[in-house]
Amino acid sequence: MIRYLTAGESHGEALIGVVEGVPAKLSLSADDINEHLARRWLGYGRGGRSKIENDKVHIYSGIRFSETLGSPISFRIDNGAYKKDRAGWPEVMAVEGPPPEDLERVTLPRPGHADLAGMQKYEFDDIRPVIDRSSARETAMRVACCSVARRLLNAFGIEVGSHVVRIGDVGYDASEEWREEVNALIREGGASAVYRAADESATRMLSEEMTERCVEHIEATKKARDSLGGIYEVVVTGVPVGLGSYVQWDRRLDGKLVQAICSIQAQKAAEIGDGVRNAYRPGSKVHDPILPGEERSVSRGGYARRSNHAGGIEGGVSNGMPITVRGYMKPIPTLIKPLDSVDTATQEAQPTRYERSDITSVPAASTVAEATVALVIANAFLEKYGGDSIPEIRRHVEADDA
Ligand SMILES: Cc1cc2nc3c(=O)[nH]c(=O)nc-3n(C[C@H](O)[C@H](O)[C@H](O)COP(=O)(O)O)c2cc1C
Repeated sequence: MIRYLTAGESHGEALIGVVEGVPAKLSLSADDINEHLARRWLGYGRGGRSKIENDKVHIYSGIRFSETLGSPISFRIDNGAYKKDRAGWPEVMAVEGPPPEDLERVTLPRPGHADLAGMQKYEFDDIRPVIDRSSARETAMRVACCSVARRLLNAFGIEVGSHVVRIGDVGYDASEEWREEVNALIREGGASAVYRAADESATRMLSEEMTERCVEHIEATKKARDSLGGIYEVVVTGVPVGLGSYVQWDRRLDGKLVQAICSIQAQKAAEIGDGVRNAYRPGSKVHDPILPGEERSVSRGGYARRSNHAGGIEGGVSNGMPITVRGYMKPIPTLIKPLDSVDTATQEAQPTRYERSDITSVPAASTVAEATVALVIANAFLEKYGGDSIPEIRRHVEADDA
């Protein structure tokens, strides 16, 4: 099983990550990871920090001559803001010594952030530590750690991609509106073709017309000093039948995927396949009819399905169809327009102050979701076919295919 831990404050010197449980002899380089770190900065509507950061991973251990060793892999990503900002972060975030005499404590919690609950929980009189660790800056290291899982999946023909389907008021209502296009991309080049096509769009959408409308919507929202959330879909292709299980609650693949999406900052709901809409439809319009193997198109199982409303999972088990999981992101909680709050030092009512922030981060969140989904699928894959090295796992897969 692959596990990872991240450490680091958003305005501290660097982010640190340790990934454990990666089999030996997986080909892996810093470039494999940096590609996805760069994709995390994609998307119209990003704030000033996107101009400061140039995320590159530094690998310290676990890899030799571009192959994993089976030992823990450790990473570092420097925070560009630490030195490039004018805010004096080396003093404000100093690891040692007393606080500077002129330190300005943050005492005005922002609604929608971890600020108030966090300072109460840890008994801080300064919100800075809460802001700095609860920030989605952490997702840079998550993407790095989970990109290792993505490489493992790629070695066995399993690919992960995503595309955005809604930003605020603008977007699609039902998967029927994009499913054919996604299936065409899958036939062309698996889920990687889906993410590459989406990366061409300023909002990571598969339609030019929808992209333009979304860009206008983001601009109008910025003028209104507000922020936006949205919905994206993660697609996984080449998934063998039988990952996950129905025999115990904590082995269900669907449950693990929903948890993975909602573990990302600001992701407040997730659905497997057409989960939400399926609740409104009769069963005859939901359950995917089973077809003979010859009619297989995007399925890796012995049978095909006329539709994929189940998102490739039935009974908590992968059924060979592409896995689709959608994430729902709330609007960014830092608004240009002030919100009501209370200064915790004086107990006086005060409007929040705007700090550098995105108007929307749905395109970025979709790339983070790809990474977290990759980790869940990789672990389910290792549970079924696991081994200490890639050649050993390959023997297990081939034995199963035979
Ligand atoms: C990729 C990404 C980028 C984000 N960028 C911002 C941002 O610029 N400003 C902001 O206020 N929140 C941003 N957020 C959301 C906050 O991190 C999140 O809402 C906050 O930490 C509170 O956590 P919660 O929403 O899970 O309760 C971002 C989230 C993600 C996933």
